[in-house]
Amino acid sequence: MTVPIAILGSGKGSNCRAILRNIQEGKLSAQAQVVISDVLDAPILDIAREFGVPNVYLPPGSFRTRLEPAAEAELVETLRKARVELVVLAGFMRVLKEQMLSAFPRRIINVHPSLLPKFPGLEAWKQALVAGEKVTGVTVHFVDEQIDHGDVIAQRAVPVLRDDTPESLHARIQAVEHALYPEALENVCRQLQP
Ligand code: GAR
Repeated sequence: MTVPIAILGSGKGSNCRAILRNIQEGKLSAQAQVVISDVLDAPILDIAREFGVPNVYLPPGSFRTRLEPAAEAELVETLRKARVELVVLAGFMRVLKEQMLSAFPRRIINVHPSLLPKFPGLEAWKQALVAGEKVTGVTVHFVDEQIDHGDVIAQRAVPVLRDDTPESLHARIQAVEHALYPEALENVCRQLQP
């Protein structure tokens, strides 16, 4: 049995690639029904094509940090039509609101590049560097109404090295994301199966 999932992202899609590869290799008991992006030319849509997964551009409307209500309604509709049971955020840079949260209660999962509750928001690796942290990490969590917040599913620490740049630290964090996110999703999928 596999769990039908959707992957939502706004950017380069490296987590999406890791998830699709894990599915392909039989390590993740999920079926990717659709990849959705709010950015027309986002590389994540090319990755979906590469793996033969249906992909959809969702025009977000004119708001900057969230979807316009009509766009969020369209998202719910698209996910329902695709019979998605789990919504996987992989660098989706808009806050989901009531329509999505009530359509998929405790069924939306996010990955964030810090040890939450530390450093929610944008470029969390830079925040950790500026704060002088010696350790930061990755969090996989259920999504609630607050930004980068909700019950934690898994966390893994990443060391901050003395000569790290934002780029070198981000790369080390992303390597951990690519391992931790599919593992955490597999645990959730196993719990969802009858
Ligand atoms: C990832 O590092 C993810 O943790 C972060 O966006 C990046 C997307 O990379 N998400 C957040 O900051 C959520 N607040 P990707 O497109 O290569 O997967």
